[in-house]
Amino acid sequence: MSDRTKKLGAYDKEFVWHPFTQMKEYAQKDPIVIEGGEGAYLIDSEGNKYIDGVSSLWVNIHGHKVPEIDNAIKNQVDKLSHSTLLGVTNPPAAELAKELIELCPQGLKKVFYSGDGASAVEVALKMAFQYWRHKGGPEKKTKFVCLENGYHGDTLGAVSVGGIDLFHSTFGPLLFETFRAPSYYCYRCPLNKTYPSCDLACATELDKILSEHHEDIAAVILEPYVQAAGGMIVSPEGYLKSVRESCDKYDVLLILDEVATGFGRTGRMFACEHEDVTPDMLVLGKGLTGGYLPLSATITTQEVYDAFLGDYEEFKTFFHGHSYAGNPLSCAASMGNLQAFENYNTLEELQEKVQFLEDELKEFGGLKHVGNVRSKGFMVGIELVEDKETKEPYAPESKIGWKVADHAMENGVLLRPLGNVVVLMPPVGIPMEDLKKLVRVTYSSIKKATEES
Ligand SMILES: Cc1ncc(COP(=O)(O)O)c(C=O)c1O
Repeated sequence: MSDRTKKLGAYDKEFVWHPFTQMKEYAQKDPIVIEGGEGAYLIDSEGNKYIDGVSSLWVNIHGHKVPEIDNAIKNQVDKLSHSTLLGVTNPPAAELAKELIELCPQGLKKVFYSGDGASAVEVALKMAFQYWRHKGGPEKKTKFVCLENGYHGDTLGAVSVGGIDLFHSTFGPLLFETFRAPSYYCYRCPLNKTYPSCDLACATELDKILSEHHEDIAAVILEPYVQAAGGMIVSPEGYLKSVRESCDKYDVLLILDEVATGFGRTGRMFACEHEDVTPDMLVLGKGLTGGYLPLSATITTQEVYDAFLGDYEEFKTFFHGHSYAGNPLSCAASMGNLQAFENYNTLEELQEKVQFLEDELKEFGGLKHVGNVRSKGFMVGIELVEDKETKEPYAPESKIGWKVADHAMENGVLLRPLGNVVVLMPPVGIPMEDLKKLVRVTYSSIKKATEES
């Protein structure tokens, strides 16, 4: 290891507290210092190259060093790096909003910018709450319906509508109450049913909550098609449409959190397109800038927006804003990302790769400890189990997911599992040959790690 890597590693261990990381364990390992990126690869300070198998935590879209995004940022730096969006605007923020509205499902009309996914979720929740105050809806229309296994970020509002006990239960006393609908987790159906004979019983349960409590409910929030952090859980077809219909029936807003699923990840630009569903609010983040800079957006209908209009002294204003909302560099990066979608025909090119991935994944099911393989487009979860017959999960101390990731890293692939679920979420623009390598290494890493355990 070079002296430089040693020095950086020492600084890191002494001064940095890493997110979602047990620092006691981290401190015992040699840190990996990522200092370069090229296409689908990350390069560490020792010159080792790794396929970015989870898109640098689900953000990267066209790979690293994308000319369209690089140049957009460089050009913008020469003009303006930041100016507030409170009461004034800047060119990239205005231009990007126009492009996003053209890209989003019809009916979405207004873009409210924030910095990260969790903030954009907070915005959606607060907007939905305030919307009903302005509409003079029932006083009690203050609650939210969310899903078991859902994840919407780590701020307290987002955690309140989250459903992953491991991350969220500690903070219970700080959270507001919600109605919980079952997860659309077919492999371990919480209602003990089987798709399709279940007739979408999970959606029926959600409908029941709305039918009984709609006077108390402001909005339903969920991740369309894939509960990502919950373990890459893929919804059965028809679920999303059914939820939209329930929301319409009971006059409840629908918030779709596409922070993880947006920008091609599921094979379409947005996951809600698979079922032709338009939400009342669409939440975007992560891939919005192609994985370059923090930026998120809460995109609403005209109907929601109009409810906030009034004279100054009526104070119908949405009193919420983040310092870097609509940051020109981030918005320019995002414009570059959208340009790259066009230049590389990203979505068209993706279809063949998705087909390849789906075909290859069938092989994984033959491995002794692979209980379930699920995917939607480029979002893949491979759930490892101790026993396939009983679906007995591996105990947490087996760290099976991490063992797979360790083997993958030795073979030039960076992965980050979710517990016992091996996750693949490569950049949407990954070249076919790199995708092949990613699949091959993941397969052999699962085989090796499970044989050793
Ligand atoms: C569906 C979803 N919503 C929100 C978030 C939070 O985004 P951020 O980490 O940018 O706050 C995430 C992050 O993984 C996510 O997957």
